[in-house]
Amino acid sequence: MDCSGCGDRVRAFARLLRPAVRGGPLVRRSDRLEAWVLIVLGAVVAIAFAAGWEASTLILLAGLDRSVRKLLDAGRHRTWARRWARLDATRNASGHKRERSAPAVAGGAAFRAVANSQPESYRAIGRDPRGGGRQLGGLMDRIRRGETDWAGWLRRWDAQQEGYVARREARFAAMLDVAARLLPASFVALDLACGPGSVSQRLLGRFPEARVIAVDIDPVMLEVGRGALGTGGGRLRWIEADLASSDWVGLLGGARVDAAFSSTALHWLEPAALIRLYGDLSRVLPSGGLFLNADHLPFGPELPTFADLSDRALDEQWSDSEFAARGIETAEQWWEAFADEPAAASMLEQRRARFAGKRRPETRLDLDAHVAALRDAGFREAGTVWQELSNRVLLAVR
Ligand SMILES: C[S@@+](CC[C@H](N)C(=O)[O-])C[C@H]1O[C@@H](n2cnc3c(N)ncnc32)[C@H](O)[C@@H]1O
Repeated sequence: MDCSGCGDRVRAFARLLRPAVRGGPLVRRSDRLEAWVLIVLGAVVAIAFAAGWEASTLILLAGLDRSVRKLLDAGRHRTWARRWARLDATRNASGHKRERSAPAVAGGAAFRAVANSQPESYRAIGRDPRGGGRQLGGLMDRIRRGETDWAGWLRRWDAQQEGYVARREARFAAMLDVAARLLPASFVALDLACGPGSVSQRLLGRFPEARVIAVDIDPVMLEVGRGALGTGGGRLRWIEADLASSDWVGLLGGARVDAAFSSTALHWLEPAALIRLYGDLSRVLPSGGLFLNADHLPFGPELPTFADLSDRALDEQWSDSEFAARGIETAEQWWEAFADEPAAASMLEQRRARFAGKRRPETRLDLDAHVAALRDAGFREAGTVWQELSNRVLLAVR
């Protein structure tokens, strides 16, 4: 059995498991438990290898594979997906030939070593004996092939965004409740500055007859969204566009749009660009069409105590110590982790090019300025429908 580089893989594996075994503020109990399960199963497999029990080893590997699949499929696999992928990088660095179309993680290298000598048995391991292998082991299969766990990245995105937006799910629900009451069952919605598609996903989930057009400037966000949600069964379309220019309207190709949604995003636009966007939306939406914007929309200068209260709450909520205490990673940590993905390098390059020259605006419109700008743009009503300090959902009716 070819096991050149096994030592490196074992050391890499140990290095990756160490943080989970030791624990810490960012490591959940479930991850620690999984780490120990892997260690115990890994040790048994190693002993079987050492003893030359080929048949038993295959059975144990099958068990390990199923156990890992089960744990990952149980929905707690975000950290593990990253660790498996990192092991792959280590394996490549340790001199193994990289197979571009089907690179395996280090764990997978052991599977392949067995596969080379026992192809039939290996194929049998790859299949789920209960016949649900494709679905049940989907994640492990993808990871073993070196593919990215896009759904995992989306879930992880949502988890870190919850650190920035208190009661984010309640805020999404408030937007969808408005849509349920004011829109027909079948509607077309825009998800503006969609990121990896959190709003789109919830819209498609709640409204089975709805269609969504998700727009964002960031090729990485769009790739994560496409990977995780695909076309939503033909109901979801992705558009790469800069909302700071009106060109995005042309990219809709004249599609009918009944409503526009946005979450935690439009503060990235300079006030002049945002006012232009409101004008674009007013032209795209029909009379009675809805715009629902969930974001931090600050209190104006006539409410200094409110503004101070809100700023203080946000300073506290957004502090590193608060993220650590809640066991939530920051957006920076998400991007750092994503950069380790084998597929990330070229995407991040494109991302840098798309954002070249863009900066976070220094001024933000306050709530009253948003309302005034929407009315000037042609919306007949605009106001808050959900609020927690400056964290709000603004509804505008065309
Ligand atoms: C914090 S994320 C929010 C993503 C998503 N809406 C959510 O709630 O998770 C902000 C998003 O705004 C997008 N964005 C920023 N400036 C943009 C622009 N000028 N045009 C389009 N999208 C933009 C970013 O690429 C990013 O995906």
